[in-house]
Amino acid sequence: MMTCSDNLLIGYDYDAWYGYADKIPITTDISTKTNSQTLICGMSGSGKSYLMNQYFARLCMQGGKDAKVYFADFKQDDTFAYLRKCPRYYAYDKSIEALDIVYEILHNRQSGEDTSHNPVMLIWDEYMANILALQGIDKKKADGIMRKVSEILMLGRSLAVRLVISCQRPDAAAFPTGSRLNYGVIIIVGAPIRSIYEMLIPKEYMDKIGNRQFKTGEGIALLQGAEMHYIKVPVIRNETKMQKICIDALTR
Ligand SMILES: Nc1ncnc2c1ncn2[C@@H]1O[C@H](COP(=O)(O)OP(=O)(O)OP(=O)(O)O)[C@@H](O)[C@H]1O
Ligand SMILES: [Mg+2]
Repeated sequence: MMTCSDNLLIGYDYDAWYGYADKIPITTDISTKTNSQTLICGMSGSGKSYLMNQYFARLCMQGGKDAKVYFADFKQDDTFAYLRKCPRYYAYDKSIEALDIVYEILHNRQSGEDTSHNPVMLIWDEYMANILALQGIDKKKADGIMRKVSEILMLGRSLAVRLVISCQRPDAAAFPTGSRLNYGVIIIVGAPIRSIYEMLIPKEYMDKIGNRQFKTGEGIALLQGAEMHYIKVPVIRNETKMQKICIDALTR
């Protein structure tokens, strides 16, 4: 049975928020029964990092004290400047170190060498830009990194290893064939960019969206490829508290 703490808030129902000033939570199951590998997309300024920050804090709160979190911040976004001194914060070209550590944990768990089952998470802001930059330097290395990402996506759920990735457009160049479908939680924020929708949203849902317009911090959540919601990402009420949760999670 799913416990209450397995339900992670993604945002609030967009139509209820604007239509009736009502806050109806849109949640996703983050237990190992369900795929909660997460992809957050949207153009620059659409609210990806803002959402990632609160999503990360909620995951840490629900993962409990034994969750081990790694944060890769390729762009060194101002949003995450407060994390820079944390031991498991990996800036710019160090992002791959975080991936390597998480990948090793996955493999040790898969082989049975590591029998622990605490949640392990890699939060990776600006994944696509990171891969494109690597491809420009060393294509083989970039391919190896994408393979590791794909493996985590395929094997991570039952081993309690989770990826939360953000990028502007999830082009095929950084998402090998089919890998976009391995994200159980897909969130697209900001202005509806058709090319992004076409990459991520099944055709039957595209027709439903029609000409809906979204602003920063609003958009679409697609869960398990089968359930679509329009969401409003809330304003962070207590930024200090959220930041403390994230700092603790990258430090303990
Ligand atoms: N849900 C929201 N409520 C209120 N303000 C928001 C929300 N989402 C984003 N913002 C504000 O909008 C601005 C842009 O957000 P953010 O930096 O998260 O965008 P981004 O998609 O990460 O952009 P980039 O691709 O350039 O990094 C920020 O000033 C942020 O505070
Ligand atoms: Mg950002």
